[in-house]
Amino acid sequence: MTKLRIAIDGPAGAGKSSVSKLLAERLNLSYIDTGALYRCVAFEMIMNDIGLDDEPGIRRILADLKITFKMENGRNLVFLGGRDVTAQIRTEQVGMLASTASALPFVREALFAMQRRYAEKGAVVMEGRDIGTVIMPEAQIKIFLTAKPESRADRRMLDIKTAGGQKDYNELLDEIRRRDDQDTQREACPLRPAEDAILLDNSQMDLEQTAAFIVDIAKKKGY
Ligand code: DC
Repeated sequence: MTKLRIAIDGPAGAGKSSVSKLLAERLNLSYIDTGALYRCVAFEMIMNDIGLDDEPGIRRILADLKITFKMENGRNLVFLGGRDVTAQIRTEQVGMLASTASALPFVREALFAMQRRYAEKGAVVMEGRDIGTVIMPEAQIKIFLTAKPESRADRRMLDIKTAGGQKDYNELLDEIRRRDDQDTQREACPLRPAEDAILLDNSQMDLEQTAAFIVDIAKKKGY
C-alpha cells in the first residue's frame, strides 16, 4: 500500500495546524507546515531590510534558506539556519508579508522543490494553500478546511487572550478578511480547493471533531 499523504488547505485561522498535528500523532505521519516556509522568507526580509521590489535580495534569501522542523512536546519548532524562530515568525507583520511575498512566482518556485522532497517521502500531512492543487496532487486525502471569518476571529481572539495579549476584535476580523482576499485573488497558485478535495467547514466543530472526521476517512481507506 502506498504511504499515506494528506493535504490540508484552507484560509488563515481555520485550524489547519492544530488539526494537522493531531492527525500526525494519530496516524503516525510527519507534519509539514508549509506556511512556516513562507514566513521564514518574510522574516529574513524584515531582518535584512529587504523590500518586496528587491528581487535579487529575495533570491539571495531563498538560495541560503535552511529550514528544519522539530516536534517537541506537541509543538512544531521551526529552525532557520539553526536558530529557533518558532515564536518570531508568528507575528501578524510576518504573516502579512509572507502572504504578499507568496504571490511572487519566483518565491513559490524556489519553495516548490523543498516541499516536493517532503511530499515524496510520504507518510506525511502537509498543510498550506496549494498542497492539494500543486504541491502534492497525488495525496490520497485532500481536505479544504474552512470556517466563517467570525469563527476564525473568535478562535484567534481566544488564543491572544490566553497568551495574555489584547487585540481589537474588528481589527482582527479585518486582517483575516484582507489575508483571505490576498491569498485567494493572487495569480500564482491561489488558495482554492482541489477538484477532489473534501470541503470541511468547521465553524460549528471543535478541533477533536474535525480531527476525528479526517481520521475516519483515513481508516475507511485502510490506513
Ligand atoms: O498558513 P500561514 O498563515 O502560516 O501562511 C502564511 C502565508 O503564506 C499565507 O498567507 C499565504 C502563504 N502560503 C502560501 O502561499 N502557500 C502555502 N502552501 C502556505 C502558505
